[in-house]
Amino acid sequence: MEPKEKIILTGDRPTGKLHIGHYVGSLRRRVELQNSGQYDKIFVFEADAQALTDNVENPEKIRQNVIEVALDYLACGLDPERSTLFIQSMIPELTELSFYYMNLVSVSRLQRNPTVKTEIQMRKFESSIPVGFFTYPISQAADITAFKATTVPVGEDQEPMLEQCREIVRRFNTIYDDVLVEPNILLPENSACLRLPGTDGKAKMSKSLGNCIYISDSADEVVKKVRSMYTDPTHLQVSDPGHLEGNTVFTYLDAFASDAQVERLTSGEYASLDEMKAHYIRGGLGDMKCKKLLTGVLQEVLEPIRMRRAEFERDIPAVFEILRRGSEVAREQAACTMADVRRAMRINYFEDNSLIEEQTRRFASGNGN
Ligand code: TRP
Repeated sequence: MEPKEKIILTGDRPTGKLHIGHYVGSLRRRVELQNSGQYDKIFVFEADAQALTDNVENPEKIRQNVIEVALDYLACGLDPERSTLFIQSMIPELTELSFYYMNLVSVSRLQRNPTVKTEIQMRKFESSIPVGFFTYPISQAADITAFKATTVPVGEDQEPMLEQCREIVRRFNTIYDDVLVEPNILLPENSACLRLPGTDGKAKMSKSLGNCIYISDSADEVVKKVRSMYTDPTHLQVSDPGHLEGNTVFTYLDAFASDAQVERLTSGEYASLDEMKAHYIRGGLGDMKCKKLLTGVLQEVLEPIRMRRAEFERDIPAVFEILRRGSEVAREQAACTMADVRRAMRINYFEDNSLIEEQTRRFASGNGN
């Protein structure tokens, strides 16, 4: 269906506090999109039901992290007046919709989904893959389409999910009726933000590797973590020429620092990040100095977020109330789509007067045939 409105939907699994990789990869952008005023509706949600698909035995982890993620959202500037913040499992329509979508997807198509493939390997499910986990791309398609989302800002790893969602939409619209909207992915702009490496230089920030800087880290923690960051192992002395590839400090600077900030925080020594990089490559610029700049940059970004978080932490019941009200709003929206879906699928029996009349006539004619 041609969309009538511009609608954003995106979310995160509440399996831990959010880190600065989430910030540059998605949160910062969401807030910009929210504040751009270019979208009619914005939905941001905590995918707790999806998180449970690979945390079956760990429900308490999800329960504890719902508030952490909500605080991170609010701290980063998502505003409940402009964005609907909600919890996936509070919207039963999403489960209902998933159940019908399951008929539109084959087992082999799910097996071919590259994200599911890698995740199955990562989680070592081997041959005992939970059915719920295996089918989560279908449930994700329900998340997106229940809100008739046109725009889904996510990382590149979610591309196969969006593709699968679009296939479901096309199939549904062709078989039943043209009621669902095909969503578009909105990828991060800056390539350094696609996937921020861990502070140890490893490919990904992950809690279990202990290489994350969290949005909620204190100023002291940030100082310590940046001080121990991985740089260029061949850059032993200040005078040595340095390398930027795989140098985590410069990757973070690419993701966070503006040229104006570089100029200001180095008291005009460098007019831009590129000038500083050139010096590093030539030799004569030490890692400590680069780390000091990175710390300064991160503190400027994180300090206002930290302060807002502290404010929301002072009234936790109010934060749950935001999620409760958001979930109510989201549910109304999903219920509207569900009514369209039921009509299209011809399972709206009690609202379908033509069905009742048809059957009345059929039985009045004598034999019910
Ligand atoms: N799979 C996403 C993640 O792990 C979370 C998610 C669930 C999501 N449903 C979604 C993202 C719908 C965007 C749209 O980050």
